[in-house]
Amino acid sequence: MKSYTFGIIGCGLMGREFASAASRWCHFTADVPRPEIVAVCDVNPANTVWFERNVPGLRQVYSDYRQLLADPEISVVYIAVPHILHQEIFIEAIKAGKHIMGEKPFGMDQAQNKAIMQALTDHPQVFARCSSEFPFFPAMQLLIRWIRENRFGRILEIKAGFCHSSDMDVNKTINWKRQAAVNGAYGCLGDLGIHTEHVPFRMGFKPRSVYARLDKFITERPDGKGGMAACDTWDNGTMICETEDPDGHPFTMYLETKRMAPGQTNTWYFEIYGMKASARFSSTRPNQFSYTVDWGKEQAWADLDIGYKPMIPVITGPIFEFGFTDAILQMWGTFMLELDGQQVDFGCFTPEETVLSHDLQTASLRSHATRSAIDL
Ligand SMILES: NC(=O)c1ccc[n+]([C@@H]2O[C@H](COP(=O)([O-])OP(=O)(O)OC[C@H]3O[C@@H](n4cnc5c(N)ncnc54)[C@H](O)[C@@H]3O)[C@@H](O)[C@H]2O)c1
Repeated sequence: MKSYTFGIIGCGLMGREFASAASRWCHFTADVPRPEIVAVCDVNPANTVWFERNVPGLRQVYSDYRQLLADPEISVVYIAVPHILHQEIFIEAIKAGKHIMGEKPFGMDQAQNKAIMQALTDHPQVFARCSSEFPFFPAMQLLIRWIRENRFGRILEIKAGFCHSSDMDVNKTINWKRQAAVNGAYGCLGDLGIHTEHVPFRMGFKPRSVYARLDKFITERPDGKGGMAACDTWDNGTMICETEDPDGHPFTMYLETKRMAPGQTNTWYFEIYGMKASARFSSTRPNQFSYTVDWGKEQAWADLDIGYKPMIPVITGPIFEFGFTDAILQMWGTFMLELDGQQVDFGCFTPEETVLSHDLQTASLRSHATRSAIDL
């Protein structure tokens, strides 16, 4: 089986998820090029210990990302670091000729994103994608097929969102994700926006204008040293987007990105309402594809249990259930196929799509500040 050598920069939550997925490659029955993790890098030595214990092929542990990028054995780099570092580390990786999987939001703000895009233009041999795993749930893949087959007819409305609840715990110690200086002015929009945009953007549903409302509920959190620290990021964002389908028909798309959504855990959802049919998926019911059955004047919701039928074939039987770590594995399998120049039904989020995302998030900040709709 073909393989590509990888380095990971940022050995936190997402760095570990990738290493775990890479160790489960035997899950695929299709011939998917394998990521071979040979080096990791983190400024905090405590965060690389897990990798030393659990990644058998690991040859190097670095504390300075420049050393990892200078390592000629590495051809691809996964960069999962705080948002403020995206521009610097993504660009250095691109300049070093490494292919990259960059974490969202692919630049802390629009200026960072533009600089990263310029580096990609200057180094066209570099393959780059942005992490976004939720569309790879099989029920969501079916919904995407229905959109492509035009089963919904004229689109009336789309609602998509990402709803977290971990920040409902006001005693949770602050981290970089709650500090605008490191996380950026987008706050929850940068944390969660790309997740909600991957499917609409790929299906050709592009926002033409946005009216956004942002909320900050918690202004300080425990600093972990007995005191309190300022918590200055947006907690919740709601966007109403005037959107066009690929035939130029306008409709309304609602996007919500919420860190404070009571009763949720890490809920990603997508709903589409059309003249011929409607459908919805939520990660709270990962097995379920819901769609309307039409009797002319009336519509009834039907729930279909999909089972384990992902885009890239696997050993797991189709009667089992699919989960978050399976979506991560499918996303990485898709990345490897695309990196290898192979065709996939549904690809990872592209750098060009991150540009649209930054247009939307930046316009949303302006919309909130001016209390007006902003054209994109
Ligand atoms: N795709 C998803 O579902 C998802 C989920 C969570 C976070 N993310 C994204 O992943 C990225 C990282 O988030 P996380 O949750 O893993 O954060 P994290 O805080 O758990 O991990 C970040 C790691 O980067 C390290 N780091 C900081 N500065 C560094 C430097 N100069 N060089 C090397 N390492 C450095 C930190 O020590 C830490 O270990 C962010 O862009 C975030 O938006 C994606």
